[in-house]
Amino acid sequence: MIAVCLSPLYLLLCAYVFYRLQTWLERCLPYLARKRIRIPICVFYLCVAFSILAAFLLEPSPAKRLLKQLSNTWLGVLLYALLVIAAADLIRLALKRLRRSPRGNSRRMDRLFSRGGHIAIGAVCILCICVCSLAGIVSADRIRVTEYELYVDKEAPGIEELKIVLVADLHLGYSIGIRHMEQMVSLINEEDADIVVMAGDIFDHRQDIRNVECFLRGVAGRYPCYYVTGNHEYWHKGKALPGDMALLARYGVRRLSGEMVTVTVKGQALNLCGVDDPDASAVHPACNGGNSRSFLQQLAHVGTQPRNGNYTILLSHRPEPFRFYACYGFDLALCGHAHGGQWRIPGLLNGLYAPHQGLFPKYAGGRYLKGGTTMIVSRGLARENTRVPRFYDPPELVIVDLA
Ligand SMILES: [Fe+2]
Repeated sequence: MIAVCLSPLYLLLCAYVFYRLQTWLERCLPYLARKRIRIPICVFYLCVAFSILAAFLLEPSPAKRLLKQLSNTWLGVLLYALLVIAAADLIRLALKRLRRSPRGNSRRMDRLFSRGGHIAIGAVCILCICVCSLAGIVSADRIRVTEYELYVDKEAPGIEELKIVLVADLHLGYSIGIRHMEQMVSLINEEDADIVVMAGDIFDHRQDIRNVECFLRGVAGRYPCYYVTGNHEYWHKGKALPGDMALLARYGVRRLSGEMVTVTVKGQALNLCGVDDPDASAVHPACNGGNSRSFLQQLAHVGTQPRNGNYTILLSHRPEPFRFYACYGFDLALCGHAHGGQWRIPGLLNGLYAPHQGLFPKYAGGRYLKGGTTMIVSRGLARENTRVPRFYDPPELVIVDLA
């Protein structure tokens, strides 16, 4: 529905970028203005712009995968093209105004507005767009390992150096291949973790279960593994959920569905709580392992369990209910879901959009503090199985060092 509402705006922005590009090309090479050349360029541009629609309409196939990757890359390039062209246009308008004044009417200004000036400025813009897009594409393909050191300042018996690997939002769907899974598994193994926790969206409703198995084969059995569901596990009415859970059980991964367990790792005791994603309420309890308690009921249940002075960690897919996590006084909450806000401008913008948080999300990824509760939000490992591609927001593997 959102996609349908935004499509006129998308087409308008595509037309703006095309108009600017075509004008510049024709200034550089006037013969490009000929009809027989302009039409094929226009058709090619339309094919790229409509690749999103084609990828959406096609049934799962290698062609759909290719189109999805193309359209995601195009969306990213379009974003940078818009930013650069809009900035150049604004500067041009400001200079045009200045030129009209007696002070601005100089020979240098005339050169800037000449054909040569147009070509040179256009070339700089194209270079900026190419550099930003390439940097974005490269960064989106590399998994970044983010390490958080947490000092445990409470008298929790036994907590001395514990390494937790947080895996979230794999979205193992139609386009992430075995190679990516192997890369992630080797990164986890390099970390020599004590425990692996999975904060939901490990499966995807458009799943290819072989990829999940590749991941589980690499980590399950090596480390104690704990899991909570994400919203994607409940999509398509949760039909795939029983099979997904059976796969996890086969690999010895413990699901936490509104419960708390006390685990001992390297002789160190800690409480590990887990809750289902709120979307569990959309499926029949039988699909959800018989658990009919809502997200808030599960949270209240695990939040009021006796903790015996142990360090207590909550594993939950969603970061938005942080105030509730803080209310129940969990020492640490580990979450995902926000995908780092998809588009980031390092140092300026920590995410543009996140599901259930909207534009400029507060909890897009990183470390947050409220009362005595720390929340760490993974930016997730999903690469392209989302409507919006990731730019300057690399897939992230989170390591939490408790000391
Ligand atoms: Fe999610």
